[in-house]
Amino acid sequence: MSEEHRRTVEAGYDRIAERYLATKDPQDPLTLAALEELARYLPPGAAVLDLGCGAGVPVTRWLVERGFAVTGVDLSERQLELARRLAPGATFVKSDMSELSLAPETFGAVVAFYSIIHVPREEHPALLADIYRWLEPGGSLLATLALTDFEGEESDWEGWGAAMRWSHYGGETNLGLLRAAGFDIRYAEPRTGKGVGDESETWLWVLARKPTTEQRRSGA
Ligand SMILES: C[S@@+](CC[C@H](N)C(=O)[O-])C[C@H]1O[C@@H](n2cnc3c(N)ncnc32)[C@H](O)[C@@H]1O
Repeated sequence: MSEEHRRTVEAGYDRIAERYLATKDPQDPLTLAALEELARYLPPGAAVLDLGCGAGVPVTRWLVERGFAVTGVDLSERQLELARRLAPGATFVKSDMSELSLAPETFGAVVAFYSIIHVPREEHPALLADIYRWLEPGGSLLATLALTDFEGEESDWEGWGAAMRWSHYGGETNLGLLRAAGFDIRYAEPRTGKGVGDESETWLWVLARKPTTEQRRSGA
């Protein structure tokens, strides 16, 4: 990612971390239902990687409270400061998710809520390939992705006094990229819930699976 792109997203979240957190519902029904479903596919205590964990509410905290071994990754130091306080028990790493160097087959699940949309979209195929590699066979990816194509920047997001940048493809392309990386799609559907502002937002909610060797062999 270009230095300029990274700086815009990092400085933006450093500046607006508290305001963004204030928009989160710790009991958000869409998020909790998706996490409950993910948990059904995970053994107790499984390792989970939370990419772009933000302030850790509700996702990182929920995963920790369920007994999973959670690693949260974020570009923004301010977000990580909040997350360390709000989701104690997780391990936190400050990094660009596309520059992480992690061992293959380390995680039972990777979650990425509203975060891959900030990574330059030409890097999405490589990022999905990394996620696939980091997952154990049979592991799951739970992500909220975009339904529409967008590449650009807002100079004052939500009037919060910081610029922000997004970069993503539309729903069909996102699903194609997931399949090209090797994932099976358990579900992929537009779901509408609480947004950052007053209006509700619709995102592509995806639960994808890295097939086991037997599943790959049998085509199941
Ligand atoms: C919209 S917030 C979502 C935070 C959290 N997942 C949630 O649902 O509340 C996006 C987060 O992704 C982080 N982020 C954006 N690009 C990133 C990157 N390339 N690597 C790591 N974190 C990134 C931002 O700093 C921010 O905390």
